[in-house]
Amino acid sequence: MSKGDYSDKGINTKLAHIGNDPREFYGFVNPPVVHASTVLFPDAATMAARSQKYTYGTRGTPTTDALTSAIDALEGSAGTILVPSGLAAVTIPLLAFLSAGDHVLIVDSVYHPTRNFADTMLRRLGVEVEYYDPAIGASIDRLMTPATKVVFTESPGSNTFEMQDIPAVAKAAKARGAVVMMDNTWATPLYFRPLEHGVDISIHAATKYPAGHSDVLLGTVSANEACWKQLQDTHIAMGCCAAPDDVYQVLRGLRTMGVRLERHEQNALEVARWLEGQQGVARVLHPGLESHPGHALWKRDFSGASGIFSVVLSGGGQRQAHAFLDALEVFGLGYSWGGYESLAVHVWLGDRTVAKGDYEGPVIRLQIGLENAADIKADIARGLAAAAAAG
Ligand SMILES: Cc1ncc(COP(=O)(O)O)c(C=O)c1O
Repeated sequence: MSKGDYSDKGINTKLAHIGNDPREFYGFVNPPVVHASTVLFPDAATMAARSQKYTYGTRGTPTTDALTSAIDALEGSAGTILVPSGLAAVTIPLLAFLSAGDHVLIVDSVYHPTRNFADTMLRRLGVEVEYYDPAIGASIDRLMTPATKVVFTESPGSNTFEMQDIPAVAKAAKARGAVVMMDNTWATPLYFRPLEHGVDISIHAATKYPAGHSDVLLGTVSANEACWKQLQDTHIAMGCCAAPDDVYQVLRGLRTMGVRLERHEQNALEVARWLEGQQGVARVLHPGLESHPGHALWKRDFSGASGIFSVVLSGGGQRQAHAFLDALEVFGLGYSWGGYESLAVHVWLGDRTVAKGDYEGPVIRLQIGLENAADIKADIARGLAAAAAAG
């Protein structure tokens, strides 16, 4: 098996072979899991000059190199850092590119802990934080000031799945010299490649689809050439490195991510379409549906949809939402997503300042797993019946 160049190959071929080169480790197909702090140097001169490939555990190992080079191949990035969670994959680049006195624009439909970090830590450090409408497109220009150093995007948005016109936002932001970041966890680099659409920094909670089994936390941050050094320097300065076993598990997950995503996509679309015709459902928030306001953008820019979306019940409140959730047997009630199993959660939108939406009833987020679609639908039907019975 030679490592070869897989850039012109199909996505599943890439996923099966990118990353490590088996020839570098006695032909074993998978890379070693290197547990390391200390790396030895052969002599004092090499140590003083740090002139060898690996120098200390926080600065990379053959295990982390295998995953970062695989992610670079998927993202088309100049470099990737690995951090201990998806949330750290958001906070580290923000810290890398913002200083006191700067202004950051963040999409209002952002993952709530990203907002929490901005509202607490960034504000405390003297950064002015402003939220914008996910539908803003090129008009983001009107919100930009000479102090705007970062525009943070996430598309589709967390929980309510608004699509952003990423190329338009990126073009306007970059014309004013801001760094554009995107939390691309929903699409993965299989269904959207941010750097090809003008984004500088692509962020992933690898906890979700790359890991795929609800047992690992990891984040990846990939940068283009212009932003790579500052991102890498910050990563080293923060000492926020990922643990080798987790890195290994994510590389292992990547090998099957393509086939898992195909099934997540197919199941989720089938369930979403079916839900649109069910009693007690006001709307289904899935950008792959023709009824979704962001469908045209999704179709233009994305090559697929993953397995998480929301359903809006037609009326009711917490009582109906809880009745729905408590009736589920296949779905677990739990946070996170991207694993093999279906999960449901009652969405809280109380943090929104712009994209408040005007929802007819409770919003329930569904992570559609790899189970049989018929069983998933039967479970949701139980939930809908229970919500209706709750009055
Ligand atoms: C869009 C998005 N970004 C980032 C994260 C954070 O990932 P982690 O749970 O690994 O911290 C999540 C987690 O749910 C998420 O949904």
